[in-house]
Formats: sequence, C-alpha cells, structure tokens
Amino acid sequence: MSHDDETISNTSHNPHINDLIEQHLHDPKRRALLRSGTGLAALSFIGSSSALLAACGGDDDSAPAPAPAPAPAPPPPPAAPAGPARPSALSFGAVAKSTADVVTVAGGYTASVLYRLGDPIASGIPAYMNNGADAAPSFAQRAGDHHDAIEYYGLSATGTYSATSSDRGLLVMNHEAITPAFLHPAGQTIVAGARTVADEVLREFYVHGVSVIEVQRAAGAWSYKQDSAFNRRVHTLTVIEIAGPARGAPQMITKFSPTGTQTRGTINNCAHGYTPWYTYLACEENWAGYFRRVTATDNPNRTTKELTSFARYGVAGNGRELWATFTPDTADNLYGRWNTQVVGATAADDYRNVSNTYGWNVEIDPFTGAAAPKKRTAMGRIAHEGAWPAKAVVGKPVVFYMGCDSRNEYIYKYVSTAVWDAADATRGLTAGDKYLDAGKLYAAKFNADGTGNWLELTFGVGNVTAANVAYPFTDQIDVALNTRLAADAQGATKMDRPEWGAVDPLNGDVYMTLTNNTAALRPLAATDAANPRHYNDLRTNGTAQRGNPNGHIIRWRESSPEVLTFTWDIFLFGARSTIADPNINVSALTADNDFSSPDGLWFSRATNLCWVQTDDGAYTDVTNCMLLAALPGGVGDGGPRTITNTDALGATKQVQTFVGAAQGTKLRRFLVGPKDCEVTGITETPDGRTLFVNIQHPGEDTPATAIGDPTMFTSHWPEGGTARPRSATIVITKNDAGVIGI
Ligand code: FEO
Ligand code: CA
Ligand code: CA
Repeated sequence: MSHDDETISNTSHNPHINDLIEQHLHDPKRRALLRSGTGLAALSFIGSSSALLAACGGDDDSAPAPAPAPAPAPPPPPAAPAGPARPSALSFGAVAKSTADVVTVAGGYTASVLYRLGDPIASGIPAYMNNGADAAPSFAQRAGDHHDAIEYYGLSATGTYSATSSDRGLLVMNHEAITPAFLHPAGQTIVAGARTVADEVLREFYVHGVSVIEVQRAAGAWSYKQDSAFNRRVHTLTVIEIAGPARGAPQMITKFSPTGTQTRGTINNCAHGYTPWYTYLACEENWAGYFRRVTATDNPNRTTKELTSFARYGVAGNGRELWATFTPDTADNLYGRWNTQVVGATAADDYRNVSNTYGWNVEIDPFTGAAAPKKRTAMGRIAHEGAWPAKAVVGKPVVFYMGCDSRNEYIYKYVSTAVWDAADATRGLTAGDKYLDAGKLYAAKFNADGTGNWLELTFGVGNVTAANVAYPFTDQIDVALNTRLAADAQGATKMDRPEWGAVDPLNGDVYMTLTNNTAALRPLAATDAANPRHYNDLRTNGTAQRGNPNGHIIRWRESSPEVLTFTWDIFLFGARSTIADPNINVSALTADNDFSSPDGLWFSRATNLCWVQTDDGAYTDVTNCMLLAALPGGVGDGGPRTITNTDALGATKQVQTFVGAAQGTKLRRFLVGPKDCEVTGITETPDGRTLFVNIQHPGEDTPATAIGDPTMFTSHWPEGGTARPRSATIVITKNDAGVIGI
C-alpha cells in the first residue's frame, strides 16, 4: 500500500516492557537503587537482567552506558536441505539511486512490461484506452490497479501444477488499492460528500482484488495469454466462503448471508501467502477503512464489546472511497453492503456485521477457476500483510508467519492442528480445509535479552478469558474476530509496522520487514530492543523526519517452526548512507545499498538470494523506491550493540539491541522504479532465469485536481509521453539468459 496510507488504532494500554521500566525509573527511590547497582531484585518482575540494562540509559538519566550483554546463542540451524548453496558474492553492479521516471535495472539485465492496469484478460475485451473512458463492466475482465504481491505457479501440459515449468505458468497477484485520479475521466465525482456516478464506483469495485493470468515464454519473450481459460479476476463482487471457526457465527450474519457462511468480495489485498498444496493466500490489509460507520448514530446501537472491537480495528467514518454514499442502492445492496451500521431490525436485514467478514486471509486455488475462494478465519483477523510458510515437513504442523501492518501492531504465527501429509500437495482447497481451518494462533514477544516467546491466543489461556477487563472474551470465535485484542491481552510486543516476512530456505530463519514508525508512535521512551531507533532522518531540504522513518528488518530462529521460543537479531537498518552516525546508519550502508522503508521481502528458491523491496516516503528526496539483493548469514552472525537515540528536545536514551553482521558488498541495489511508485511483489520461474516484479502506483502523488493537465502528472510510466501512469508487472531477464543475481 501507499507508504503513508494506513490506519492507526493500537491505542491499547498493553504495556511495552520498556514502559514498565520507565514507570519504575520515574520513581526516585528506584532510580537511586539502580544507580547503586542494587536495583536488579527490585525490577526482577521484568524478567531478565538484560531488560534492565536496556533501560539504564534512560532518557534523562546520566548513568554511563552499560556494557552490552552477550548475545544469546541461537539454536543450531537445521541441516542444509538439498539444493543450491547460497553464492558467496553478488554478480551484478549496483544500480545508482535515481529519481527518473523509468525502471532502471542492473547492467546485463533487461526489464520489460508484461501486465498493466486495464490490460484485457478475456477474448473480446478491447485494449485499454487509459483515458478514463473504458467501459466499467469490462473491468471484471481487465487487470486491476495497484499490483502488489505476486506468485508464479508452473503449469504442466495437462493444466496442473508443475514444479519445473519455467516457460508456462500462472501468475497470481493482488490489486491492493486504486489511484482514483487515473481511473475515471476526471477523478472521482463527489457531490456534497457523496459518490454520484455509478460507473465510477463499479469500476472501483472491479479493480480491487486478485488476478490469475496465464503467462508463457516464446522465442525468449514473455507475454500473458489474453484468452486463457485460467484467467480470472477475484474482486469485491466475488462470492467468497467463510471457513474456519467463524463460519456460521452470529457475528458473520449479513443480509447477503443470513447463515453467516458467505460474504461478497475481498479488499486491500496486500502481500500474500502460498501453500504447500499450491494455492494462494490473498491477505486483507487495510480493509477497515472501506466501511461506512457513522459513530454518532451507530454507537448507541452497539454493545460495549462491539465498540471496543470497532475502535481497535479503526472501523469508523464514511469509508475511504465513499462507496456506501451512492444512492439509490440496488436490490442486492451493491453500495449499502459497505455500510456497517445498524439500520434494519436484525443482522439478517442489514450489513451491521459486514466488516467482520473482512480482515482475513483468502485462499484461492488458481488451477480451479470455478471454486469459490475461502476466508480462513482460524488464521485470525488483523490488518493482514501476508502469510509466509515455514518449510513443510511430513509429520509436523504447517506453520505460517504473519504481520499486522499498522504502527505498533504485532507479529503472529499460525500452527495447524493437522500434521503435513505430502499426499495433500495435490488437494487444493480441500487441503486448505484440513490445515487452515483448525490450528493455534500466537503473537510474538521480543525480549530485551535477544530471546522471544510466542504467546498463545486461545480462549481460556492466560488473559484471553471472560475476565479480561479491556475486552472480555466469549469463545474462540471471539478470538478469531478480535485477534488484535487477544494479542494485547497476552502482552505481545508492539512493532514498527510489520510488512513482509520470508523464510530462509537454507536455515529456516524467519525475516520480517518493519517498514517505519513515527516519533509520535515510537517516542524516545518507547524504543526497545527489537524497535531500537529514534532519530532524525534529515531531508535534503532541511525537513526533520523523526522516529524510525527508515525502518529495519528483524529476523528470528526457532529450533523447529512449531516451537514457542526463538532467538532474534536485526538483519538490517534502513538509513541514508550520507549519515555517518552509527546510531542511525547502524548497518553501515553505502551509496550502493542504502535504502529506506523496507516492505517486500523474499527468498529466491533457485538461488537463495534475499530480495528487499521498498515502499518509502522518507528518502524520496534522493531516490525512487527500489529492489535490492542480499546474501544474509543468519541469526547471531553479528552481536550486541548499544544505540544512543536522541529526540527533538535533545534528550537521549541508550538501547541495547542485537545487530546482524554488516552486509557490505553482500547487499546491493538491483533496480530502481519510476516516480512515486512502490516496488512490491516478486516471484520467479523455477529455473531462476525470470523474475516478475510489480510496480505499484507510479505517479500517485499527482494532485487529483491535475488530471486534466498531463504536464502535472508526476509519472507517465510505463507508456511515456503524456500517458496516465499505470501499475504494472515487469519481467526481468538476464541478457545472457542466465540465472538472475548470481
Ligand atoms: Fe499494503 Fe503493508 O503494505
Ligand atoms: Ca507498505
Ligand atoms: Ca506492503
């Protein structure tokens, strides 16, 4: 999604571990104890002496910096699987940072455009005019907008999954959101706060969601097959089954589905997951903002628990695209289905519950176009960025790692009840029923000593009970629907906006980008070991950007994916290389690899290279967003580090953290995107010789009022000239047809 386009609703008082320390530091007697070195016992409730050390350099405490505690020993990695080893060096030259309106890729490589907003995916659908006049109903069979996550599935001659097909496959990708200025003749028509042009709204309904397209390589060139029977769009009008514990629950009843077993549509599908049975998970991220709920009139009709839930997820307002404001509504509530308010006699008479049917991972089988997708409610309801599987092992549970993308939200893990049977690899959504409808959810707690714990989110465990004051839970359905509140109750660690995760195929280490945070939401006092920075990233025009505006990438190692403890460190910190201060440019980035706001993250299975994509608003004075490649070591390859933070008032605080070995030349910029884009989504053919990468929302900072004046567009990519910009999938190949990156 757009770098600054997120809801912020973790106003929970779930104390951060450093909040607890701070409270005690503000007690003068305890401060004296700390200075005299006898305070350890007084703070023993915190759980570890290194947590205490992290606090000793409090914001206004003049005590000297503590000696860093040694890093905990991570569990040994599993034996390296059969397959390619990680290369020792990257083979391409770094691409320079750029603000040009082009895709720049490393020398020796070629990037070409494959699939753009509006491109037709059925025979008889005309080419996209890209002037706002394309017929609204045709968008049901055109590429959506804001291409995001993407996954390649090899296609056999008989139309089944092939692990080796590198010339023919299905690309499945998300269309997260829209740039309305470029979709319609002159942007959105809004009169007195209401949408008034039905075609515009219908177009927007269709351009969200998911594409499935068949792609093929012939004579060395890739194209998508416009008339393939596999081509499919899933969008906000697609009927989707509710699966898992919330299926049929009273909270899921709507006028559309009085049995609470279905809903219409998926929305704001950001990153994704893929399963060991070759299906796709489209993860619903900023769904909350699409619904209309006018609190002044709706709140009196709601229970206290409902109000707590709405507040925690940010369901309030008129809806970001104002869809529910269009009148008159249709008989099947095309517009009113976005109105999550009490307006009828019962839940089966209105859409008071419709927002409960969003916020899930949506499983799609790309090989069976007729099958309804399924919302997998056992995996919890959050602002799902994506769901990344650990390597499936026969006889062990299937495990997915997940992030909730909002500032100060949590990292989660799902562990299936069923254990993996390799025979299920061909069973599609039936396998999904087995592994994704029953399992346990956990939220991550990162301890200051470099260890961590997975906190179980099961009704009856810990604070997830009817006695929980902030939100008294009723049952596991309540936990599935209010996963954030369950994680609050168990004391999960608030993170600097979790974006993508990825699992190292060689050693199982799990990486997750933490894209950025602000000074308001990660003030100096709230920095902690896992979110350790608070500083000023000064723009070239002198504008201060405080907090953790450049983000970092955390990683952890478990002895096996289903266990409940881990050891962590921080792989990389974003920063501008022109900043020499090691408290800011912690990873010693250079001009060849400096970046800001990591978002997409992915390991190639062909080469084991780690790829990092950015969705940035902080470093855009110097460069557009980018794609970098890395050759990481693993958790524990660096050591402890004490970072000295400074806030706007000059107060300082020292935080001990654990930092991975500096990457040096093992991290290098591979591609820079066009203006105002986000580089997101990356996948490959099994032979590693083709990369597919998504370029999202080029030109998104164009003022909506400038649509009539192409000279005001900030981007014209990919068509150039005076064209409106279009999100698109690009194909990257090596000019010598070799494997990419090595
Ligand atoms: Fe849609 Fe979390 O970026
Ligand atoms: Ca993002
Ligand atoms: Ca993202």
